[in-house]
Amino acid sequence: EADLESKLPLKGKKILITAGPTYEAIDPVRFIGNHSSGKMGFDIANEAAKLGAQVILVAGPTHFKANNGLVEVINVISAQEMYDVCHSYYNEVDVAIAAAAVADYKPKVVASQKIKKAADEFSIELEKTKDILASLGAIKKDQFLIGFALETENEIENAKLKIQKKNLDLIVLNSLQDEGAGFKKETNKVTFIDKDFKIEPMELKAKEAVASDILNKVILHFRKS
Ligand code: CTP
Ligand code: CA
Repeated sequence: EADLESKLPLKGKKILITAGPTYEAIDPVRFIGNHSSGKMGFDIANEAAKLGAQVILVAGPTHFKANNGLVEVINVISAQEMYDVCHSYYNEVDVAIAAAAVADYKPKVVASQKIKKAADEFSIELEKTKDILASLGAIKKDQFLIGFALETENEIENAKLKIQKKNLDLIVLNSLQDEGAGFKKETNKVTFIDKDFKIEPMELKAKEAVASDILNKVILHFRKS
């Protein structure tokens, strides 16, 4: 028993993870997207499964595949689809980790036919997408809720505001200022901030190692509670 607990500390836990970008359709052949590769979310999912957790990984468009039978991947395209899938699983999970780079805005209307080139200037009206993480925070019961924050200025202050606004237990602040960190990179430099605003800067390290650090926080949470 004690051995199982140390090797598979997340056995019996169910974890919802979002990963990758979302694509917001403009017309049948075009979309608004971003450069998120999805690697961070897949690394967290695979590592969580290695620790014994059952994982539901809701992934936007990415080439990554899960490498563990305990990871169920649900592929989505848009923010609205990601929102719907997350809400359909949220009640049954113990932990939710939002690693996706969800589009903040989407076209207000999606053209049913390919938009033809015409005038010299052209603009698309956008409206906000739903904030998936904030919506999960708003209905949180016992779930341990982890978000990411990507900031380029006033990093700590902005991340703290996100903890409060989205009712998070922990935020993983990503520093893009660091050369080796961020989108399309193999490494990440993060700072953890918990809901009591305890700040813990981490070293620049491989995304797999960042994933382990995040899951260590989850393990610690369950040891305490
Ligand atoms: N997030 C989400 N749904 C959205 C936007 C963001 O679930 N529509 C989640 C991300 O997955 C991440 C966290 O919210 O875990 C913070 O995302 P970020 O882009 O840093 O912050 P925003 O709240 O979108 O604010 P801004 O982009 O203006 O900094
Ligand atoms: Ca955003």
